[in-house]
Amino acid sequence: MHTDQLAKTFVEYFEERGHRRITGSTLMPPPGDPVLFTTSGMHPLTPYLEGRPHPLGRRLVNVQRCLRTTDLEEVGDATHLTVFEMLGTWSLGDYEGPLSLDWGYGLLTEGLGIDPALLHTTVYAGDGRTEPDTESLRLWQERGVPVELTVEDNWWSNGPVGPCGPDSEIFLWSGDGPPQSTPTRDDRWVEVWNHVTMSHRRLADGSLVPLPQRNVDTGLGLERLSSLLQGKPSVFECDVFDPWRRLVPPLWSLDERSLRLVCDHLRSAVVVLGDGVRPANTGQGYVLRRLLRRVLTVLWRDDPSRGLEALPEELVRHTLDRFRQDVHPGDVLRVLREEEHRFRGLLQRGRQVLTRPRFQGRLTEEDLHYLHDTHGLPRDLVTSLRDE
Ligand code: ALA
Repeated sequence: MHTDQLAKTFVEYFEERGHRRITGSTLMPPPGDPVLFTTSGMHPLTPYLEGRPHPLGRRLVNVQRCLRTTDLEEVGDATHLTVFEMLGTWSLGDYEGPLSLDWGYGLLTEGLGIDPALLHTTVYAGDGRTEPDTESLRLWQERGVPVELTVEDNWWSNGPVGPCGPDSEIFLWSGDGPPQSTPTRDDRWVEVWNHVTMSHRRLADGSLVPLPQRNVDTGLGLERLSSLLQGKPSVFECDVFDPWRRLVPPLWSLDERSLRLVCDHLRSAVVVLGDGVRPANTGQGYVLRRLLRRVLTVLWRDDPSRGLEALPEELVRHTLDRFRQDVHPGDVLRVLREEEHRFRGLLQRGRQVLTRPRFQGRLTEEDLHYLHDTHGLPRDLVTSLRDE
């Protein structure tokens, strides 16, 4: 099944159950949200989870692009991407978590043909402040799906403050042999779908207050499930990455992990640029800058003459189309090349400055401030140049 077909099947399944499709938003979270980028489908819906009536009703479904940089060091493994699409469903004060889980189970098994014996779930065990999620536990026991109970892993929050609540996660076995062990002990259990009962709001002092309504917020990683259904060993081998895998290896010879990182970060940089962000030294622009610098660092490690002018326009166009971004690929390529030029210059200057006698010993905080303020060299760049 192609990734687009999977997304369509998901949306239609929930439309048949009374959900209205909402249009996905950009990567920019709504004003006041504590995160730099949308990291989950619920961000654009925060006001509605907190009680404002949604114009399309109480049951919603959508496909939302997300960007996560918390997992940056894990990109290159089989399951992590920085930009990915999340299939999401919401009950805004309507049905409860167990019904959502039951529909989820129905879609995965009958709808998508997954063998129920390859599923495992986790459920919130409760702590001193909040009750265990016995209703979800009962649902899974009735369906005969194994359950592991956890505390921290089954409490989901949007950020340090805001809506949060207990969740139940559905895992799919990705190993060769029969399933073994449990999700917290064996990472061949891949998390595919999270169902959160958004019941509380966390305040700045860490306390929890009940939300005016109990909601359900679910999120399924599209590329992740798609690659598993396509029998591929990693997300980078599902159909979404076909053009990248066809066009990047002939340009630059890279080991598999570096190839994955380069494809992931370049693709994410295109999407972030497509949403209007430009490289900068702070905030969203700095995330973009870091992604590009990580790509260039990998490319130049083996051959400093490599450059982004080699990047085919087809890859930029394919990515902008996939994310329905109405931006000219030439404009994206121009910014990528300008940023590469800037980074090359910065590295050259940095290497020169760091040969000065003053910087031969351990660098003090004052040195780091001076290098940043006078020479434009960020701390992480100085550290990596010193490690060369
Ligand atoms: N908001 C939940 C998540 O991102 C569904 O996992």
